[in-house]
Amino acid sequence: MSVFGKEFGKTSDGRTVNLYRITNENGAYVEVLDYGCILHAICVPNKDGALTDVCLGYDTVAEYEANDGYLGAFVGRHANRIGEGKFTLNGVNYSLAVNNGPNHLHGGLKGFDRVVWGTCVASDRLIFSHTSPDGDEGYPGNLMMTVSYSFDDTNTLTLSYDAVCDQDTVVNFTNHCYFNLNGQGTGTVTDHLLQVNADEFTENDENCLPTGKILSVEGTPFDFRKAKPIGRDIHADDVNLKNGSGYDHNFILSGEGLRDVAVLTSEKTGIVMTTRTTQPGVQVYTANFLTDRRGKNDTHYGIRDGICLETQHYPDAVHHPHFPTVVLKPGEEYHQETQYVFTLK
Ligand code: GAL
Repeated sequence: MSVFGKEFGKTSDGRTVNLYRITNENGAYVEVLDYGCILHAICVPNKDGALTDVCLGYDTVAEYEANDGYLGAFVGRHANRIGEGKFTLNGVNYSLAVNNGPNHLHGGLKGFDRVVWGTCVASDRLIFSHTSPDGDEGYPGNLMMTVSYSFDDTNTLTLSYDAVCDQDTVVNFTNHCYFNLNGQGTGTVTDHLLQVNADEFTENDENCLPTGKILSVEGTPFDFRKAKPIGRDIHADDVNLKNGSGYDHNFILSGEGLRDVAVLTSEKTGIVMTTRTTQPGVQVYTANFLTDRRGKNDTHYGIRDGICLETQHYPDAVHHPHFPTVVLKPGEEYHQETQYVFTLK
């Protein structure tokens, strides 16, 4: 694994943004920005032996700053939604920035996707670090974090998140990469085969906020236990699909520890991506709100042109005591890992 860094551009307030390319011995590579720890490119071998970039992104910092959608970004302090941006911890009421209708989404108005992170290049990984101050977007306590990326010779991209705090707080990190295994900018992913090791998912209301109910996937369009094309049931007459405008749901993953949780396959390129994670859930999001925009290398992106497999704790867990806790306490060490393993069919 070798790492090469260069300037990518500047933020609107003059901060330098660097791009790091991590190349493995096969010549496959991943590009990452220190702005938002963004996964900017993932170039892996296709069945013809050439490289395909399977990750959506933009050519400039200005586009990353101006556009919504969190392309490729590391997301926190709390991924997905917190109802009304309010929660109570140890009897204290906290009000967070509200940025999605009445709710808090993906860390607020200035989440970690908008931060220029400190960078350290180690021999086997790229390490980003940042301290989120007490009161940041309304969250309690200072939070010290590292996010590391490595890409080994088996074409395994490993994302590793660590954090400690000095006061009880809530933490739920994810990555918001939009994958298109046919190649970024080639249209929709509805032909991809998806398999997810989940017997259940969390029901959403019309604002994509969990109701607290846990539903079985059995007999529903959410049954991905056997691989099926993403588009097969996406227009089914189902209230949950309607509420999400497609798939935008937290699947409850079987098993514990670092394990295989999902497999995404492109018949066109032969690229197979196996997702592995230590996290209890994955938000399967079929880019239902990805409005028309310019993508990398003068491509065009729109609805369903990528799929996010956002490994995470369940959304809005602060309001549902039966969901796994997202509370982090001083003295505890938060650690989560996710791997995207690229192979050929
Ligand atoms: C997803 C979320 C969607 C949408 C998207 C960003 O993680 O589940 O509802 O907000 O991020 O556009």
